[in-house]
Amino acid sequence: MMETMGDLRRTHYVGGLREKDAGTEMTVAGSVARCRDKGGVVFVDLRDTTGILQLIFDDSTDKDVFEKASSLKSEYVIIARGTLREREAKTDKIPTGGVELFVTELRVLSGAATTPFELRDEINVNDSLRLKYRYLDLRRPMMHEPIVLRSKIAKAIRDYYDANHFLEIETPVLMKSTPEGARDYLVPSRVQPGRFYALPQSPQLYKQILMLSGFDRYYQVARCFRDEDLRADRQPEFTQIDMEMSFVTEDDIMTMNEGLVKHVFKEILNVDVPTPFLRMPYAEAMDRFGSDKPDTRFGLELQNVTDAVRSCGFAVFKNAVEAGGSVRALNVKGAAAQLSRKEIDKLTEVARTYGAKGLAYTRWTADAKSSSFEKFLTEDEIAALYAAANVEEGDVLLIAADADSERACTALGAVRLAVGAKLGLIDKSKFNFLWVTDFPLFEYSEEENRFVAKHHPFTMPKDEDLDRIETDPGACRAKAYDMILNGCELGGGSIRINDPELQQRMFRALGFTPERAEESFGFLIEAYQYGAPPHGGMAYGFDRMVMLMLGRDSIRDVIAFPKVQNAGELMSGCPDTVEDKQLRDLCIALDLPQE
Ligand code: AMO
Ligand code: AMP
Repeated sequence: MMETMGDLRRTHYVGGLREKDAGTEMTVAGSVARCRDKGGVVFVDLRDTTGILQLIFDDSTDKDVFEKASSLKSEYVIIARGTLREREAKTDKIPTGGVELFVTELRVLSGAATTPFELRDEINVNDSLRLKYRYLDLRRPMMHEPIVLRSKIAKAIRDYYDANHFLEIETPVLMKSTPEGARDYLVPSRVQPGRFYALPQSPQLYKQILMLSGFDRYYQVARCFRDEDLRADRQPEFTQIDMEMSFVTEDDIMTMNEGLVKHVFKEILNVDVPTPFLRMPYAEAMDRFGSDKPDTRFGLELQNVTDAVRSCGFAVFKNAVEAGGSVRALNVKGAAAQLSRKEIDKLTEVARTYGAKGLAYTRWTADAKSSSFEKFLTEDEIAALYAAANVEEGDVLLIAADADSERACTALGAVRLAVGAKLGLIDKSKFNFLWVTDFPLFEYSEEENRFVAKHHPFTMPKDEDLDRIETDPGACRAKAYDMILNGCELGGGSIRINDPELQQRMFRALGFTPERAEESFGFLIEAYQYGAPPHGGMAYGFDRMVMLMLGRDSIRDVIAFPKVQNAGELMSGCPDTVEDKQLRDLCIALDLPQE
């Protein structure tokens, strides 16, 4: 029963139709979301990319049209002409609930098999089935809408950068594999057997080179590839809003990007984001929130109680301090009734996941005070500790001690988030932005037994730390900053090294031999010999931005065709094997592990 459109062409999308449009003649097109035959009256919900509209057919409808309408089934593709009119029984369940289309002409453009799951917003279907039939899932309004908004957000971003004289410049997707960072995705070359391209983890090197080419202000909506483990906010293939500017300081880049956020949130969500954002040095963020991406939508800050327990009788505390570490506390005020022993055990597990050896606690209810450590302390020591942490009846005090202060903070920071979620302290309607600044330049990799770049090897050290790159790398800080939204790292960047000699020092500090530095980055170092303006920039995780703006929990929801845990894409079924001939062309022989 398939027909062509004939002379019918869409005149209206349905999503915006309202009472004021009643009386208009129009042609609409889309899929049948639902049909109900109420004996003599047929209601059809038509869905297009903008929304849903009720079509109505009744005894005043032409007989052939009515019959056709009666035979419609879900997901049939139709085009219909008619007159819009006000509905008798209005509903506010859908935005177009005040109107309906009285149809005079109907064409069925495609039939449809019964779908493997219902295409309504409220369904309970397992994720793999939804991802296998992603094209069906994307018809559901709650899955459809983020993809529409994603496009609008990208447009708003382009408008902003364009208005600020940025050029959108594309950089290669087939590029040189360089060490550092995450694992590369490799692409074998056929023309040069045995050689490989890497897919970009980010356009970092190219955008720096563009600054040297004099382009001055660059941005790109760039696809990036990182062969790392997936999480709710991580995909192996994701999109960055990448930008770089010349003749700027950290402050200039932050200000420019605060402007971007302000523009985009106003444009898309009509939300006024106050600027400038709070700027918090990394050390302070770790100290107060136990995180380099603090969620500032709630308080519950960490406390440093090292001094209060420095010489107490509890070995766990004392040893941590003696080993150069510290003792950190979280006083969950008035929560003794809500946080049971069992809850505290769960929090202990959270702390352990983040490397803590344990979580000491005192739970002080009106009836009793239970504590895992009081018995090891004198009364004076207890009093001193409780005074330091302002502990009173009704409170739960949680403590992490560690020879590595940062580990104590991080573990307690994770506990803080778990408590915040458990006690409902997080106001989900808020958008809390801040910059975390002054990151460490290096971090020590136990795995590789050397210092690695915390951001990347091209990041400029703070002026006051230039002299100790070789002597005290652990204490050096960087001109690097992250933009944090609601406890999520939305983006990050830095001022780059534009002095070839300093760049060489960095490579040396990172343990590169001169040969390896030359091999990997020789072209960059050479480029910097020919005059390099001071420059810097940042990149946003665009998927994360869309996710947070739309209040979703996973970036999968805002990517049309996302990948799953094992980096596969379930609809098309990739990765997949290839034909022997393809491998032979590439001079590749497989040497797979026995299974
Ligand atoms: P960085 O590695 O911090 O910086 O990446 C920038 C932002 O990209 C997002 N992001 C991801 N999003 C989804 N899935 C992933 N696997 C993933 N990895 C990162 C994050 C992150 O903040 N070239 C530098 C930027 C610069 O210095 O200008 C860079 O790539 O939101
Ligand atoms: P124990 O003496 O091993 O029974 O430990 C007493 C309490 O100290 C328990 O509640 C442990 O979870 C806690 N604890 C152990 N190690 C640490 C640590 N590094 N920081 C904080 N508390 C700890």
